[in-house]
Parts: sequence; structure tokens; C-alpha cells
Amino acid sequence: KIFLVSCLLIMLCGLSVARAKDSKQIVIQTDHTELVYTVGGNGRLYQSYIGQRLQDGAAAEIMNPDRHEAYIGAGMDDPGTPAIRMIHADGNPSLNLVYVDETVKKGDDPDVTETIINLKDPQYPVSVSLHFKTYAKEDIIKEWVEIEHHERKAVMLTNFASSMLHFDAPQYWLTQFHGDWAKEMRMQQSELTSGIKIIDSKLGTRPDIYQTPVFFLSLGQPSTETHGDLIAGTLAWTGSFQLLFQVDHLNSLRVVSGMNPYASEYKLQPGVLFKTPAFIFTYSHQGKGLASRNFHDWARKYGILEGTKPRMTLLNNWESTYFDFNQNKLVSLFDEAKKLGVDLFLLDDGWFGNKYPRNNDHAGLGDWQANKKKLPDGLEYLVKQATNRGLKFGIWLEPEMVNPQSVLYHKHPDWILRLPNRKENYYRNQLVLDLTNPKVQDFVFNVVDKTLSENPGIAYIKWDCNRPMTNEYSPYLKQDQGNLFIDYTRGLYKVFKRVRAKYPHLPMMLCSGGGGRTDYGALKYFTSFWPSDDTDGYERVFIQWGYSYFFPSFAISAHITSWGKESLKFRTDVAMMDKMGYDINVDKMSARDLEFSQQSVQTFKRLSPIIWEGDLYRLVSPYKENRAVLMYVNHAKDHAVLYSYNLHSRFMEIFDRVKLRGLDPNKKYKVEEINLYPGTKSHFPENGKTFSGDYLMKEGITASPRGALTSAIFELTAQ
Ligand code: DGJ
Repeated sequence: KIFLVSCLLIMLCGLSVARAKDSKQIVIQTDHTELVYTVGGNGRLYQSYIGQRLQDGAAAEIMNPDRHEAYIGAGMDDPGTPAIRMIHADGNPSLNLVYVDETVKKGDDPDVTETIINLKDPQYPVSVSLHFKTYAKEDIIKEWVEIEHHERKAVMLTNFASSMLHFDAPQYWLTQFHGDWAKEMRMQQSELTSGIKIIDSKLGTRPDIYQTPVFFLSLGQPSTETHGDLIAGTLAWTGSFQLLFQVDHLNSLRVVSGMNPYASEYKLQPGVLFKTPAFIFTYSHQGKGLASRNFHDWARKYGILEGTKPRMTLLNNWESTYFDFNQNKLVSLFDEAKKLGVDLFLLDDGWFGNKYPRNNDHAGLGDWQANKKKLPDGLEYLVKQATNRGLKFGIWLEPEMVNPQSVLYHKHPDWILRLPNRKENYYRNQLVLDLTNPKVQDFVFNVVDKTLSENPGIAYIKWDCNRPMTNEYSPYLKQDQGNLFIDYTRGLYKVFKRVRAKYPHLPMMLCSGGGGRTDYGALKYFTSFWPSDDTDGYERVFIQWGYSYFFPSFAISAHITSWGKESLKFRTDVAMMDKMGYDINVDKMSARDLEFSQQSVQTFKRLSPIIWEGDLYRLVSPYKENRAVLMYVNHAKDHAVLYSYNLHSRFMEIFDRVKLRGLDPNKKYKVEEINLYPGTKSHFPENGKTFSGDYLMKEGITASPRGALTSAIFELTAQ
């Protein structure tokens, strides 16, 4: 009987439904976006539309609504890349997914709606539900998939996309962000040609060092800041990922996003829910600028922990001391932090390990007790000294890792990822702990919990992770090594969750040897992230510019250090576009540098509500000209900050005036150059004058300073 019914369904599949009005439709909407699904005559689910929101009822007019199956199961009739592939307990490697029903959930927040479309395989006890959470005002859609089965034995999942989206456009342009240590987030754009393009990471713990799981896909033509149809998408997953773009023989594009199937043949036991990470995207009809603002608005409210709360300014000691410090030195740095006027002192790597002291990166990871030689009075003393000076105190941890030179390594060899019968492979002289093991999860949680509970004054954590995964073998998983990559990240999330349950508001910076972990999967547990160890002012313009496409300024930590040959003014002006901090020898500063920095800290604190909560407009791209210009405008449109960096002007090069954006044409704004270095004056003709928003947006201002590696910041205040 089942066989007959399925034959009938397969036959019906050929009878294409010409117009959607004859079929069941599921419409998923935000204020300006719409995603339409149609149940075909064969019972399968099809994606019929993605784009600008249609007028009410217009979805019924869609022609050929059943061209693209929504979430394709491998082994059936589609020859392209599947969304999911399952090998059933009996060895059958196919999955036929037909529509069952859908539910719509509304919670307390009127902005958020969750639509769940349930699918199942008529022949096997497997259910797959597609989840779409919409954030109406922010125009963001978050998609994920939940898979469950009740077969007699485990099944094998070899593909498990979080999202499959289909597009039909004459051309497709992909913008991706690649890099390496100290050169993160370099933007590249290319036209997608027929076949498959993959952006991925197989690095597990430190997934983003070469490719970041974010992209723009422009439809029809490359989009600009203000023009063009595109989606901006990202995978919220702190592990190996895959973003796959396949242009087929009919020039249709499918985008398949999710955890990387590489080395992840996942054994799924009956009755166990397999939940994919979320793919988060926005559709913009007005270029990349709007897409970024959508992401920023969403991240502030939903994506990043405490996104609407203020952040602290800080002085970090990594660049100024590295491992070479002691208690007295640190206390003297507290005085420097105080002099600077920042809120917090952040103690970096090197404070722990006794049998194997952490005096360099060869030893100590795993032994999280304060080093008695460097810190004879322990962390407690440091917290007290900082508090006495009216400073907060923060600390660096890298609790997922172990050095072979550590007590932990010798005590718990079975807690470490390493291959049987193979030599250990080191990266920064360290190995990864096996977070698939609940005992190791307990250990990592306890490292954090013990450090915090024994020193209740600790007000900040920098959570580092300095190596990608190799030695990919978990002693805990035994025969199920295919589960390692996925279960590691799930184990990590379990730890983050526990930390957050106990310390819900503690500011934490996500760091991974620079920007190796910058994703919305982790950021819901963190208040900011470290984008790169490269703090050279010139390089940072590009790096921070790159992150600004997907991440809001308040989350992008930007520290002023001694990297680079740019002036302190330039480096400070760059840091001030995001979450400014310091990692510099304050005692080596000249009196004028110190005076300038003290003023900058105060100016930054005064303006940070606009910088962090305002709308970002990228005005001149460093990828197009030898300069970069951007601005933030607050929501009332009565206060704005504009940053202008001359990166490398040619001899006698004249830069055009810059037309501003996002202002109120009917308001009058006073334009003032701020953050001037002591003893210097503004040379901009507009400085101190008042202009209408209309003029500033149509005619613009002389925003760019003369001379390579110079910068200017302007404050615009409505009169
Ligand atoms: C890598 C980080 O990116 C640096 O900021 C610093 O914390 C070092 N690790 C410490 O080992």
C-alpha cells in the first residue's frame, strides 16, 4: 500500500502546478522580505519565491512555484547538491521528504515569529522540520533544521544543511571574506560561473582563520553600498562550516549552508534530536549598506549578549609585556590605566602554571593556578589593587587547550584529542582537549567558574583559542569519530551555556589567535570579539571595515597598540570607530601623547552611544580609493560622527568632497572636527560651520585630510 501511494506521488511530481493559487502556500515574511513555499502536487515542498515583500495575496500569482525543491534529500530524483543525506539503518542511502504540516509560533516579542514546516519520509520513520524565525523590523530570517528518526538502529547523516535557498537571476556575484592570522577579513568579489563554488573551513576549533562564514550574494549585478538586490548571509556556528553555491545547467543557483560535511559522517541514534546551527540572512533591495544595518540592528537586540548595554574601555597588557611581568609590574600598569582614564585592566596570557610556568607559549596551558613566582599574592591581590584604584579587573583564559608541558597533560592523557599510533601534531605547542567528553566539559567550566568564584571581583574574561583542530581523534567517541567535529562545538556551547547560566552579565571577549572565531553561534554568549592581532592602523581600517559588513561596532574590539608606523592620532581615530581600548606602554608615551589619549578616552565615552547604537553608513571604500570614510548617525538623526582616513594619497592627489548619508535633510548640523592632537588646529573649511542635512547629503564636505596615513573625525550636531 505504501509502495502504491509513493508511486502515485512520484507520478504526480511530473504534473507541474502552473500557478501557486491552486496549491497550499506557506508565506514567511519580515517587514520588507518574503519567502514563499508551496506544497507541490507530489506532496513535496518547494521554494517558490525569495525577495522583496509582495503585496498581500500576490504570492498566489507566482508562476511555476514548484521548480525548486525546498530541502532536497539525497538519493531521490535531484542530481545536484542535496541539503540532507541519510543512510538508513538498513543501508538505504535516500531520503524522500514530503510535507506534513506547519505551525506558527508567536512569543512575547511581537517582532519575532517562528514558522516550522514539518516534513517526513513516507517510507522511513524520519522527520525533518524546517524552522524559520523572522525578525520583522530588522528584516532578518534565521533558519535551522531539526532531524529525528525512530529506526531500529542508528542512521548515518552525511549532509545536514541548515539552509537551502534557490535563486534565479541572470548573473550572481559573490562577495567573500578570506585571510589568515593578522590579515583577517579581506574582501573579494567574483562572478559565480556554472558549477560549484565552496567557501569552507575544516579547522574545527579555530574555524575562521582562512575563510569567515559570511557572504554577500548579489543578484543580476554586483551591488554597491546603496544599490542592488542581494542577500547577506552567515552561519552561526563556531566550527567547521561549508557555504556552497551551485549554478546549474539552467543557470539557477542553490546556496547550501551549514556545518561542513567533511569528516563528519554523523551517527544519529534513534530518538535523538539533531539540530543544525542557524543560517542567518537578510535580503536587501538597496545594496550592502542596508544589509549591514539590518544585521547590526538584529545583533544589538538578539544576536550578541547585552547588545544594548554599554561596554567598558580597557588597557590590556599583551603587547606591552607579553609573558614578562610580575605582580609589581602589573600594579604599576593599573596606575597607567588609571592615568589613561579607562574602566578596566585586562591581564593577558602568562599568569598561571607552577610546575610548568607559563613563561612562554611552550608550557602551562591546562594548569590554571596563579603562578606563585610572578603573582605571590594571587589573583585576589590584583583584583584588590585594581579595585582600590577604581578600576575593574579582567583576565585571559584559554581553557580548551593543553600544553604537553603541563600537569593536566600527564594527569589526563585520555582528555586530549590525538590519534592512536601517530605522533602528536602541535600548533603553537599545544593540543586541543576533547570537549565531546562531558568530564572535559566539566573541567573547562570549572576553570572559568573557579577563577571567577575564588576572585569575585573579576569583571571581564578574554576567552582565547589559539589552534585549529588536527589530531582529529576523540578517545571518548571511540567508534563514532564522525561525530567529533560537530560534537566538539556542541560541547563548547554546553560550556558557554553553563558559564552564562551562572554569570549572565559578565563581559566576555571572544578571541581566537586574532579573529579565528567571529560568528553569531558564539556571540550570543559573548559581549565582543577580537578581530585580529594586527593592530597596525592602516591594516585595521581594512579589517574593521570588513567586519562592519556583518557585525556591529560595539562588538568589534579595537585596541591602540604600538604596531605600525602611523601616528598615535591615526591609530586612535581607527580604534574609535568600534570598541576602543588600549594595549600599549602608557609610561613610554610623551606628555602630549598622553594628553591626547586621555582626551580621546573621554571623547570616545561621550560619543560611544552614537557609535554603538547609531546607523552605519560606509561612504568611501578603502577597496576603491586611497582613503576610507564612514559615519554613524543616531536614530533621532540629530547627532553623527564621521571618520575619514587618508590611506595613501598619491603626489598632489585631490580627493572629492564626500556626500554624507542618513541625515535629516531639514535639520541644520554644526560640523566640528574633533579629537585633534594637542597643539594642532583644524584646516577643514567646513569646521565650525552649520549646514543643512540636505546640503551635506547633496554636496558633501571636504572630509579627507592631506597626507598619507592622516585622519580626521567630525562631529555633526543638529542645532
Ligand atoms: C592570541 C590573542 O589574539 C592575543 O591577543 C593574545 O591574547 C595571545 N593569544 C596570548 O597568547
